[in-house]
Amino acid sequence: MRFPVSVIAFSGFASLTAAQASAELVEEALIWGIPLYQTAITGYKTLAKNQVGFNTFIRNHALENSSTDPNLAPNVDTLYSQVFLDLYNTGVEITAPVNESSDRYLLLPFYEAYTNYFASASRRNYPHGSKFLVYGPNSPKVKDESIYDAIFTSPTDLAWLVARTEVKYYHNSTDLAIANAIESTFTVSTTESVTPRNPAILLPSGVLSTDPLYFWKALGNLVTLFPPTVPAVLDAFVSLGLSPTGFNSTGLDATTLAELTAAPALLASLLTSVDPVTTVKSPRADVAVNNNWFTFLDAGNYSTDYSLRAALALAGGGANIPADAVYYEAEVDIDFDILNGNTSYVIDVPSTGFPNNAFWSIIAYYKSNASLIYNTAEIYGVGTHTGADLVYTVDDTIIRILLQPTEPTETDVNWLPTPNDLEFTLITRVYQPTSEVIANKFPFPPIRKFNTSDLAATTEVPYGAPTAVLSTSTNIQYSAPNLYSSAKSVSGSIFLVVLLVVGLI
Ligand SMILES: *[C@@H]1O[C@H](CO)[C@@H](O)[C@H](O)[C@H]1NC(C)=O
Ligand SMILES: *[C@@H]1O[C@H](CO)[C@@H](O)[C@H](O)[C@H]1NC(C)=O
Ligand SMILES: *[C@@H]1O[C@H](CO)[C@@H](O)[C@H](O)[C@H]1NC(C)=O
Ligand SMILES: *[C@@H]1O[C@H](CO)[C@@H](O)[C@H](O)[C@H]1NC(C)=O
Ligand SMILES: *[C@@H]1O[C@H](CO)[C@@H](O)[C@H](O)[C@H]1NC(C)=O
Ligand SMILES: *[C@@H]1O[C@H](CO)[C@@H](O)[C@H](O)[C@H]1NC(C)=O
Ligand SMILES: *[C@@H]1O[C@H](CO)[C@@H](O)[C@H](O)[C@H]1NC(C)=O
Ligand SMILES: *[C@@H]1O[C@H](CO)[C@@H](O)[C@H](O)[C@H]1NC(C)=O
Repeated sequence: MRFPVSVIAFSGFASLTAAQASAELVEEALIWGIPLYQTAITGYKTLAKNQVGFNTFIRNHALENSSTDPNLAPNVDTLYSQVFLDLYNTGVEITAPVNESSDRYLLLPFYEAYTNYFASASRRNYPHGSKFLVYGPNSPKVKDESIYDAIFTSPTDLAWLVARTEVKYYHNSTDLAIANAIESTFTVSTTESVTPRNPAILLPSGVLSTDPLYFWKALGNLVTLFPPTVPAVLDAFVSLGLSPTGFNSTGLDATTLAELTAAPALLASLLTSVDPVTTVKSPRADVAVNNNWFTFLDAGNYSTDYSLRAALALAGGGANIPADAVYYEAEVDIDFDILNGNTSYVIDVPSTGFPNNAFWSIIAYYKSNASLIYNTAEIYGVGTHTGADLVYTVDDTIIRILLQPTEPTETDVNWLPTPNDLEFTLITRVYQPTSEVIANKFPFPPIRKFNTSDLAATTEVPYGAPTAVLSTSTNIQYSAPNLYSSAKSVSGSIFLVVLLVVGLI
């Protein structure tokens, strides 16, 4: 959701001294724990900023624009509404009319405290649903479960709902008002009459934020409140003072304490930039590449792929599973040159768009901060929601998108503004994609440098018609090194994870 482009590289060591082993273990505990920490801190800050508690909807009423906070890579296709659920001693009832969204797509994805998706509701899976019950691991059962269209169970008492309500047209205040009206009907209520807990439980009590062990004390607090589904995962970290009962630094040796203290700085060093060409030329196992666009097809559903989970948590969490939405990012053009507003590009999307049962868009961002690109026309994306303004060409077979800082003189193109002389990235979102897209079998149109003479010569044929899919990974389930077992065996194989992402909302 947040970081524009980030890279996490973890390396193991061929032969380890005791000190190095402890450093590696600290790194693995950090990677394992970051998502939980991120959910808690995001929750605490979001609730404080909006001055609400748990189990309350926080609604955005407008689409995002170039003034939105940086590092969010927001879409301009949906209104976001979120709730941080506290399921301690209660279930929570959510109502939202996904049953009526044949015309307007609504999506309710739910994440547990470790950022794993555990359920989603939309017309895809609940075409008749509008009333949902969410239980925590120990919530009392309601008397009559039959009144619910579906019952979901969160493995942790803390859960996060990031609902999306489609806004069907850019620059259409009538439609925005309709989307707002629908969003305002969402409700959330607890099934038991419990006193809401204070969101301050998410922070370690009595620990100063300047405490050098703050992260570990916070994580210790969180694992006691929201234990992992498999508690034994914590066995690997006992020598670091982290256990199901929390974090206890008593008795740790000076080396370990120093490693733990250095962890936040370590995290910063793990977040370095990666060569975007390598990203698409030598993709990691869970990255699928498609004409130099790339995506993580197992986002949201991480299993033991803790490194991807950490990376996407740092990117803001809330990653949709591919069945709900796929995100393809581009940082280089079809010639492997970095996208920069100093060059004009053309993308020829087939007139039928990207195969989906909801909508698609291509949105441009400053590479430096993942913000929407400022332009006086306030055009941030091109896609389904361009609506009647969408221009077709080449006998109406092509939606030609011209990417450049200035408005094109050509009349048969759709303009997507890019920044003057600055690098940018693109994200194509396909909501409720078809199985062809999910399997990375649909060829994404290449991003080609724009050449006026080429265009003139090809008025009857698509310019740069999509053909080749340069690299696909059909088995995209990433069998990541299991941090837990590698922490125990410290086998020493190089554990390198490249992470480039993407706003995920
Ligand atoms: C961006 O959105 C905010 C919030 O809706 C609004 O106040 C602001 O005027 C918008 N800015 C631009 C440049 O459109
Ligand atoms: C993002 O970066 C661009 C280019 O450096 C800058 O013009 C813009 O103000 C930044 N946006 C935000 C929201 O900080
Ligand atoms: C959707 O569910 C709500 C609440 O149960 C109901 O009032 C409404 O009629 C339903 N809409 C459709 C189209 O089924
Ligand atoms: C604006 O939105 C309304 C409501 O969805 C729709 O009926 C109307 O056609 C839209 N106008 C344009 C110009 O797309
Ligand atoms: C921390 O560990 C020490 C040594 O094992 C133990 O004496 C102490 O009770 C523990 N503290 C807490 C709060 O569990
Ligand atoms: C998540 O991944 C597991 C395999 O690791 C698979 O069985 C399951 O169907 C996936 N769930 C979703 C919602 O994609
Ligand atoms: C555009 O900028 C890139 C750096 O991002 C540079 O490599 C390239 O040569 C520039 N192209 C032109 C046409 O100035
Ligand atoms: C544009 O296309 C023409 C004709 O194919 C070619 O001669 C020229 O080199 C191209 N220009 C660029 C900048 O690629």
